[in-house]
Amino acid sequence: MFRYFIRTIFLLLSFAKVSQAEIVANWTTLNFQWSSTIDRLAALQYGYYVPEHNIITNIKVFNDRIFVAVPRWFHGSPASLNEISSDRRNLLPYPSWGKNEAGKCHALQCVQSMEINPRDGTMWVIDVGSLSILDHPSGRRDLCPPKLVIIDLEQNKIIHGYTFDESVVSSSQNFLADIVIDPENERAYISNTIETSIVVFDKKTMRAWKVVHPTMRHEESARELMVNGIEFDGETGIDGIALSADYKTLYYSALNGKTVYSLPVEYLSLDTSPSTLDAQIKVAFERPTHSDGMIWSNRSLYFGGLQAHEVLKWTPDSGNGSIEVVIKDSEHLFWADSFAIDEKQNLWFTTNKLYEFFTPPLMNFSQGADANFRIWKIHIGEDSYLAKTVAGVSTALFADCLLIIAMNMLFFFGIK
Ligand SMILES: *[C@@H]1O[C@H](CO)[C@@H](O)[C@H](O)[C@H]1NC(C)=O
Ligand SMILES: *[C@@H]1O[C@H](CO)[C@@H](O)[C@H](O)[C@H]1NC(C)=O
Ligand SMILES: *[C@@H]1O[C@H](CO)[C@@H](O)[C@H](O)[C@H]1NC(C)=O
Ligand SMILES: *[C@@H]1O[C@H](CO)[C@@H](O)[C@H](O)[C@H]1NC(C)=O
Repeated sequence: MFRYFIRTIFLLLSFAKVSQAEIVANWTTLNFQWSSTIDRLAALQYGYYVPEHNIITNIKVFNDRIFVAVPRWFHGSPASLNEISSDRRNLLPYPSWGKNEAGKCHALQCVQSMEINPRDGTMWVIDVGSLSILDHPSGRRDLCPPKLVIIDLEQNKIIHGYTFDESVVSSSQNFLADIVIDPENERAYISNTIETSIVVFDKKTMRAWKVVHPTMRHEESARELMVNGIEFDGETGIDGIALSADYKTLYYSALNGKTVYSLPVEYLSLDTSPSTLDAQIKVAFERPTHSDGMIWSNRSLYFGGLQAHEVLKWTPDSGNGSIEVVIKDSEHLFWADSFAIDEKQNLWFTTNKLYEFFTPPLMNFSQGADANFRIWKIHIGEDSYLAKTVAGVSTALFADCLLIIAMNMLFFFGIK
């Protein structure tokens, strides 16, 4: 009896994961790692660095390294792709200052998202190509074509670059927002918000094409997006996308939309007729609130609950699946923007008060004001959709099983 009791306790302990969210880093204004104080002062003086024009959108994590995107929506953003310094206070332009130079088309111009392939340590980065998309009155500056860049994270070097053809991604209209990858077939799926399309990039053939469908536009019934009493623009289309862990189904949703749609990736092809596309696009579920980015673990789809200051997950185990709140925090969690899952089963995400950022006087950049940008981490006990698996079983689960078998043998022989 006692033996079974101990065994049961041990089994429970093996699976019990204490989940508590941690704020890993926070900023009221983003700090960059300048080579000297003089450089920083000069950048401030010449408008090369305007602190209030810098926001973190996307996050990706690999081997304890944290990478963030700082889209150049306004002037005064010194670098668009950055790594967080080890003391977690500063942003280091990645892979270098030079590879982030505004107006130089070989360098990154306006990065909104990236994804990391943990199998080979490469980062796939999408670059809008244009600067100051949201600057008024100067307006959008289309200096460079949109592109996809692949960086080797060990060598910190760009190893591939692909420029999108104007017919696939327009240089003056695009808003390449989010990217997921299929590491087995070396493909990327990208949401293009303003043009409301999904762009497919196939690395094996170095080709790209787009697929459009009315479900990629905003939903009339979801125009109103109010957070903390502040109204957000009402017509933003396809934004968050996520790929299932078998790489077979893509999920997407408009920012001004509550419906999450699913589509088998095999139909993301130029040969698919509009009627087949209509038939293959399904409603996966309805979100209780609006949300921005999304990500699949090997079990659930994680997304933000913007109005409710939450992160939620949808688990499609049976029927229409179930939606659960993963974390709710009305004092710190303002606009969960993007997500990443590391190799240790932690979900990482950024919050950035996006609804305040677009209405300049609202965001408080004064020293001592509440943090505007935060990086969060929470243990979820699930693997990334990109995790390596051993014959279909995740390596972490395999290790858990071995441990349980070993401990049970110990109890069996030891306590008997
Ligand atoms: C799933 O949702 C659809 C549409 O909302 C509904 O008609 C159906 O009954 C639901 N199925 C289950 C099993 O709850
Ligand atoms: C901004 O934050 C500062 C420092 O906490 C505070 O004194 C000030 O009142 C805030 N401004 C607004 C408009 O809330
Ligand atoms: C940011 O986090 C630090 C701890 O790392 C904390 O001391 C500080 O108060 C936080 N700042 C804001 C503005 O929340
Ligand atoms: C997902 O990964 C976790 C951790 O390895 C594992 O316990 C779980 O069984 C996996 N779930 C699925 C559906 O593969």
